[in-house]
Amino acid sequence: MTHKILVATGGGDCPGLNAVIRGLVKRAHLDDEDWKIYGCIESFNGILKDDIEIVELTEEMVSGLHVKGGTIIKTTNKGGPFHFPVRQPDGSWVIEDRSRLMKERLEQLGIEAIVNIGGDGSQRISLQLAEMGLNVVGVPKTIDNDLSSTDFTFGFQTAVQIATEAFDKLVTTAESHNRVFIMEVMGRDAGWIALHTALAGGAEVCIIPEIPYDPRIIAQKIETRYKNGMGFCNIVIAEGAKKADGKVTGSAPTAAGDPHIKLGGVGDVLRHELLDCGVEHDIRVTVLGHLQRGGTPVAYDRILATQFGVKAFELVKEHLYGNLVVYRNNDISYVPIEEAVRSPHLVQPDKDFLVHAAKGVGICFGDEES
Ligand code: F6P
Repeated sequence: MTHKILVATGGGDCPGLNAVIRGLVKRAHLDDEDWKIYGCIESFNGILKDDIEIVELTEEMVSGLHVKGGTIIKTTNKGGPFHFPVRQPDGSWVIEDRSRLMKERLEQLGIEAIVNIGGDGSQRISLQLAEMGLNVVGVPKTIDNDLSSTDFTFGFQTAVQIATEAFDKLVTTAESHNRVFIMEVMGRDAGWIALHTALAGGAEVCIIPEIPYDPRIIAQKIETRYKNGMGFCNIVIAEGAKKADGKVTGSAPTAAGDPHIKLGGVGDVLRHELLDCGVEHDIRVTVLGHLQRGGTPVAYDRILATQFGVKAFELVKEHLYGNLVVYRNNDISYVPIEEAVRSPHLVQPDKDFLVHAAKGVGICFGDEES
């Protein structure tokens, strides 16, 4: 008998997605039972569209894929089984629940299990599908590293590496021109990328969503630095950073079925706030944006992703459904998906040693304590 698994990648892309797919497919083909692995194109939308788009993932197709960024089966953060956008004849969009249709189609195709590789939003979908009686295994993915239950998600180390290399380059130009540089990185709710980059790059200021900032304190830090003869200053700020009023900077989503506000621009907001505080030095802003998600994964992420792929297959084989593969205490294991999506993995300013160490080397977080 041939067993069939459907694999989907959901949410924003992330270096290492292809390595997970490769790990899973290779492990399945080495198994003593017969398996067919199908990729669902553009997350679950592939099986929800009027014309189904799924593709069999052969060993040849995944060969060498661990090095390749992105996802060969495409991804999206719009739509999905419970909020599928359908264009109406008048051009407007209606959101449909196509979860029953998805279940019927999986039965017709003889697919017995789903592996859903995705972040918080995707794993909430996994949970809902599991509650409908579908056999789901989740794999955590996000460059933001904001999923709880796993010490790291793949893609994070690559994003940090890219951000650190960019930061290093800004440091030399800041130094040459005696400028203040603000580098905006990703991090919707969690400041992990900014925090790791600040430590790796030796930033003077690090602004994260978990610590509301006061521009006056940052202005003071800049002035003290210049007075002390260090004629430049480098700041890293997460896109989800906010002041005490809790307002984030971004624009409303434009695409149908996309629930997320598009964050971006807080670096520029901070620049204006610093000018308003009387900072007279030349302040420049660089937004790294999607550069952090593109390209080849670093070795760490390839290794983590490959382990996740192998483990996801093994959970399916052992019928351990409703679980999310995780990396904890230097081991690969699993937890109920429900547990993993309960609360996000955020920086805990009073508990995380990273914050303590950052303050220990003089990094200012723009709060009263810094
Ligand atoms: O969730 C990861 C993330 O990188 C966030 O930090 C960011 O806000 C979001 O994706 C942006 O995604 P997109 O531009 O694809 O909508």
